[in-house]
This record gives sequence, structure tokens and C-alpha cells, in this order.
Amino acid sequence: MGKDKISVGIIGFGTVGTGTARILIENRDILSQRTGFNINLKRVADIDIKTDRGVKLSEGTLINNAKEILNDPEIDIVVELIGGIHPAKDFILQAIRNKKHVITANKALLATEGNEIFAEAEKYGVEIGFEASVAGGIPIIKVIREGLIANRIMAVYGIINGTSNYILTKMTDDKVEFSDALKEAQRLGYAEADPTYDIEGIDSAHKLAILASLAYNIPLSFDAIYKEGITKLTSQDIEFAGELGYKIKLLAIAKATPPVPPLVRGGEWGGEVELRVHPTMVPKDYLISKVDGVFNAIYVHGDAVGDTLYYGRGAGDMPTGSSIVSDIVDIARDINKDTTGRIPGIRSVKGAESKIKNIEDIEAMYYFRFSAFDRPGVLSRISGVLGNYNISIASVIQKGRKVGEAVPLIVLTHRAKERDVIKAVAEIDKLPVVADKTLYIRVEGKEE
Ligand code: HSE
Repeated sequence: MGKDKISVGIIGFGTVGTGTARILIENRDILSQRTGFNINLKRVADIDIKTDRGVKLSEGTLINNAKEILNDPEIDIVVELIGGIHPAKDFILQAIRNKKHVITANKALLATEGNEIFAEAEKYGVEIGFEASVAGGIPIIKVIREGLIANRIMAVYGIINGTSNYILTKMTDDKVEFSDALKEAQRLGYAEADPTYDIEGIDSAHKLAILASLAYNIPLSFDAIYKEGITKLTSQDIEFAGELGYKIKLLAIAKATPPVPPLVRGGEWGGEVELRVHPTMVPKDYLISKVDGVFNAIYVHGDAVGDTLYYGRGAGDMPTGSSIVSDIVDIARDINKDTTGRIPGIRSVKGAESKIKNIEDIEAMYYFRFSAFDRPGVLSRISGVLGNYNISIASVIQKGRKVGEAVPLIVLTHRAKERDVIKAVAEIDKLPVVADKTLYIRVEGKEE
């Protein structure tokens, strides 16, 4: 029988560190009732040991040197909550080499350096908990790794960045432009002073890399993900999308093609995976379209279970702390029962990385916003080029008359190949009747 007092050290006493400590202290009674053992928050390390976080740690718990946690033989689990690549990675590798289990919410680190970290953890026989790295309080890692283990996953779609979802919701509801919605998000503390990761799809791609690894047994493949942010969208695009029956969401998409994935059979990889983050038009009546503000939602389609959807808070001290504590309990249970490694971390199948599709090879429906001069014959020039590339038009909107000036011309297409779209747009943008670069948005949902 393993230990019945499990000791934890947290590195980083910021927002999530504080939430985690609060849950471990305030919910200690239910945690010990449910597990049958004690989880001891032995140390919390932070460079700032002065600021009152409103959580009462016992005397001597708060220290300013992470090494005291990494080198403490009594500590079983190290929770890394400082974020960034260095020194977070160094702390994690040191903890692993000291045979400590590790929990982290650091999606940027896992997405970019995770293959090395998971390999090291396997070598030293320790576990990595990363539930909090994707979608804050939604237990989506557990869902894919455990709850849906029986399934071949056909698709995982999600709104996994609360900041950009807040901005898009604000642009939709208040008809404001991107820059004003971003300022409001910053004022409310939803967006950082440098919002690049959130608004350019990078944060979503970090999280998608992790979800796709679990769903498809591919290595963490952040670089192979197509990433496009929300900065070029206008409130007019949102309005036109609305008229066509769609909402615009920043979706992170992992899809197996062919849609019924053979994927891993007999240890070999078949099929391909699309990995992409971009603004997406989603039919208004889809549940995911109704996910507004800072909330996250992830849709998973498994071959056995069918459609499933998970909704909740994707950030914040207590929701993210909830996921961290869930990992602490999972690992503590394994230590207690001597079953460490029962559920493997990220494991990829050989050769799987070569099966990630290039964005040019995907197919979707498309929304185009052409900036065209308001003159007779313009639509036929544009539709002529689309036709030459086998892109078939489903609907057209043009509003307002400004003879001789540029007006938005909106075209919704049937299913088309991205490769053809790229070529058609390059050609259209050179037409004398076109005033500005064309914007296009990929459309998900059933073809009308
Ligand atoms: N910046 C992230 C978001 C925080 O907006 O969702 C949680 O990872």
C-alpha cells in the first residue's frame, strides 16, 4: 500500500496558484472524505512573498525559492504555475529528474516543448497532469483521455480562448469594431496589455495541439497548426454573417479525414488530420454559436458516442484551480495505490506527424468580402474567376450604392478547395474593379 499523506509544492502564487491553494485549504474536508487520505500543501514558492492574496497558508508554507520545493524529498507533486518557457521548463525537468510528479497549466510550454517533457517523464516513471492547460475548469483532458477512450474521435471543435470570444461577442452584440472591443476586454482584465497570443489564435493553437495529440495520437504539433486571428474582422462581417444565418467564432478545429477515421490500426497510421485555428462562421442554431463572452466550449464527436459538448469557464483562479486539484487527486490516488503511470501522458504513433494536412488541402464553404467598385459588370468579373476555379456561389449580398466607390460585396460559396480559393482570390485582387484585399472566412456546418 502506498502513502496516505501526499505532499504538494506549488511554484507560482499568482491567480491560479492562489485559487489552487484556496481549494486545497477550503475543500480539504471533502477532498479527504472522497479520497481517504490527506493532501498536504507543504510549500508555495513565489518571488513575491509579501502581497496578501486573501488565502491563509500555514506558517512557513510560503517561501521565495523554488529549489526548496524541487529538492524537498518529502514533496511528491510539484505544481508549476509560473507560465512562460523559462524557467518553467527547467523547474519541470528538474522535478521529473528528482522523481516528482508534475502538474502544469502551461499550455504554451507543453505545446512547444511537451514532446521532450513527456518523454522525460516516461523515462523517470512520473506523471504529468495537464488538465488545467486547456479550457480552464472544463475537464476536457479527462473527457478525451478517459471518458471517450472507447471512441475513434472524428472531430474536436472548440472555443478555447475566452478573450477572443469576449471580443467577438462584444462586436456582435454592441456592433462595435475590433479595436474598441479589445480596449473593453483590456479594461475588464480579460485581455493582457500585449494581447497578441489571444487575438492571433496562438493561445488557441497551443491548446489545440494538446487536444489533437490526445485525440489522434500525434506528437504535440503546434508548428503544423494553421493559425489565423480575429484582427481583420469588421462589425460589418459579423452583420453580414448574421443575415446569412451564422455567427462568427474563433474556432480551434481538429478533424480526421476521411471523416470516419481509420487512423491508428495495428500501430500504423492511416488517414489525415486537419489542425486549424481561424475565425469560423457557424450556423446560428448550433449550440456552440450560443457560447458567448469569456466562456469556452468544446464539441467532441466520437464514433461510438456521437456528438458531445462541454461548456464552462476557460480561465480564472477557481475554475483553473479546480482542474489543478483534480490532477493532484488523480496523481495522489495513483501514489496511494502504487499505480503510478496507470493512465499514460501524451503518446504518439510513429509517423503520425506526417499525416497533418496542409491548410491548402482542406475543403470548406467560404464567405468572401470583396471590396468592389460599384459599377455594372463587377459581379460577373468576380464570379467568372470563381467559376474558373470550380468555386460555386450559394448567395450574394450587396448593399448600399456608392457609384464609383468601393462597396463590400459578400459571396457565400458551396464546398470548395482551399487551394482553389487561394488562387482565385489572388487573381480577383488584381482585377481593376477590386479596390482592396479580399477577406475570406471558412464556414462550418452542413451544406445548404
Ligand atoms: N488567455 C486565455 C483565454 C486564458 O483567454 O482563454 C486561459 O488560457
